[in-house]
Amino acid sequence: MLKRTCNCGQLRIGDAGKKVILSGWVDSYRDHGNLVFIDLRDREGITQLVFNPETQQEMHKLSRQLRCEWVIAASGTVRHRGEGLVNPKLATGDIEVLIDELEILNSAETPMFELQNADAVAEETRLKYRYLDLRRPKMQDILRVRHKVTKVARDFFDSKGFWEIETPFLGKSTPEGARDFLVPSRLCAGSFYALPQSPQLFKQVLMVSGVDKYFQIVRCFRDEDPRADRQAEFTQIDVEMSFVESDDVIKVHEQLVAKIWKEILGVDVKLPIRRMTYQQAMDDYGNDKPDLRFDMKLKDISDIARDCQFKVFADTIQKGGVVKGLCATGGGVKFSRSDIEKTFTNVVTAFGAKGLAWFKVIKGEQGGVDLSSNLVKFFTPEQRKAIIEKFQAKPDDLLLFVADKVVGANKALAPLRLKVGRDLGLIDDKAYELLWVMDFPLFEWNDKENRYDSLHHPFTAPVPEDIGKLDTDPGNIRSQAYDIVVNGSEIGGGSIRIHQPQIQAKVFDLLKITKQQAEDRFGFFLQALKFGAPPHGGIAFGLDRLVMFLTGTDNIRDVIAFPKTQKGQCLLTDAPSSVDQAQLDELNLRVQSHH
Ligand code: AMO
Ligand code: AMP
Repeated sequence: MLKRTCNCGQLRIGDAGKKVILSGWVDSYRDHGNLVFIDLRDREGITQLVFNPETQQEMHKLSRQLRCEWVIAASGTVRHRGEGLVNPKLATGDIEVLIDELEILNSAETPMFELQNADAVAEETRLKYRYLDLRRPKMQDILRVRHKVTKVARDFFDSKGFWEIETPFLGKSTPEGARDFLVPSRLCAGSFYALPQSPQLFKQVLMVSGVDKYFQIVRCFRDEDPRADRQAEFTQIDVEMSFVESDDVIKVHEQLVAKIWKEILGVDVKLPIRRMTYQQAMDDYGNDKPDLRFDMKLKDISDIARDCQFKVFADTIQKGGVVKGLCATGGGVKFSRSDIEKTFTNVVTAFGAKGLAWFKVIKGEQGGVDLSSNLVKFFTPEQRKAIIEKFQAKPDDLLLFVADKVVGANKALAPLRLKVGRDLGLIDDKAYELLWVMDFPLFEWNDKENRYDSLHHPFTAPVPEDIGKLDTDPGNIRSQAYDIVVNGSEIGGGSIRIHQPQIQAKVFDLLKITKQQAEDRFGFFLQALKFGAPPHGGIAFGLDRLVMFLTGTDNIRDVIAFPKTQKGQCLLTDAPSSVDQAQLDELNLRVQSHH
């Protein structure tokens, strides 16, 4: 076999005259009757090969058999392409290699799709023939970035004295709030392992074990419905540290983020990354992961709308709800009535709102400003003026409002803000806005179950000043939890943990986890806390989401070599699939017939 001396992305004009051997896949072929041109591809790039019948009759004949994705090796001489033939889109576009020897290493069936047009191909086809899909430069770039991110992370943590320690996949249920994947045990018939939703309890046990600084790049398993930014099987950069407070964890991880941004994107992240309280985020943006690439803050006009004649507003406020809205700058001329009453209204109703009220801002009498809409008749001139002032609105702006309970209004307005921001062209695809969201509530009330739920997980510590409220006012306890958000997506989250058994017990009480249940589910952990647990805390980044940002894709499947579909299937291997009766028998399992 001809052994390559260089890769397909390497040769430049300075290499002209050199003898080289290249190997790779046929990306394209052009037979000009006389000369045959082959674009040869490997993961580093594309190099043009030329076969000339006058100098190499036999090789030229052989080259005419070549088809896309055939695997070849070829030797020849590098030369300048000649005036006017240079391809500025290719790194190797100045040169070509005149071939004197060709070796066909393998033929290939006609690919199911053209690699150059794969973006237009059904994703199912790409996933089924993933090995073809992954040959594409775009996908190879993503694989390379993903590799680089983990390498940067590993080097970073090593330099800071963290140890990478593996924790079990076959374990016990961990309470991250999703459904578990279960694995039946053969040796303990009738018992099941749960695949970890995260290494949460093990990493805390490692702190009790004196490890001090742990990290792991680790697979997590959550049996949820996959979404655009969610997979059932995904990867975390998981970290835990001893003798730390929130600030310590945050400082280390901003450095990591800055390092990744610098090494991958060449972008300098300004440190410290800005911080916002959970409450501020909810008030101003309607959710806990605001996209700060554009401003457009939500405002509450309940104080003004309380006394208006529009019954929907007044009644909602009367019943303890709010009227909240946003100002789309220039939206009054940019958007049509159907944009507002169909498209935007559909956005908010899809998230549970009952309707969307709108006003256009217009020039009023005597150079003033006023509102115009089918609803203005319900508002006095003073109320209209106050609304305009609240938003500092200008003529041609558009004001959009939802009246609902505050939770409902936020739920509907957060996606509306994004939609309006995008439609107004306010979102710069090249910008990165990083943010720490702090001071999450420790609990959220679960109406259905008539108890509190942890907002993060049950091991998150309350802020010290609020510990007294565990007995009196649990709904208003803030936690020492922090999320890191990029462009409106949560790429990581963590907290300082509870390290005192009495406080942990109290939290379980509020979550209505009985002593027995706590004992059964995490008795080992509660036990460990009693043997000298140091104060500790940590964080986990979603590696897949991080790579999505760094590579500019909004599809999580693009950043995973072998991902699962919406239905949790691997189309390449056809998992999940049925198994032999003998295997089931061995595991003491019986499958009920299903339709
Ligand atoms: P959390 O559940 O917030 O925290 O997860 C941490 C980060 O992991 C990413 N992530 C996901 N990515 C893809 N698909 C999913 N299904 C998915 N679920 C989560 C997110 C998220 O920010 N043990 C705690 C961390 C800690 O407290 O230290 C935990 O798992 O980017
Ligand atoms: P209706 O009184 O139902 O005809 O609604 C009059 C206007 O108010 C319509 O534009 C509705 O979309 C809007 N609207 C109805 N309910 C709400 C609500 N909860 N919040 C904001 N606007 C609403």
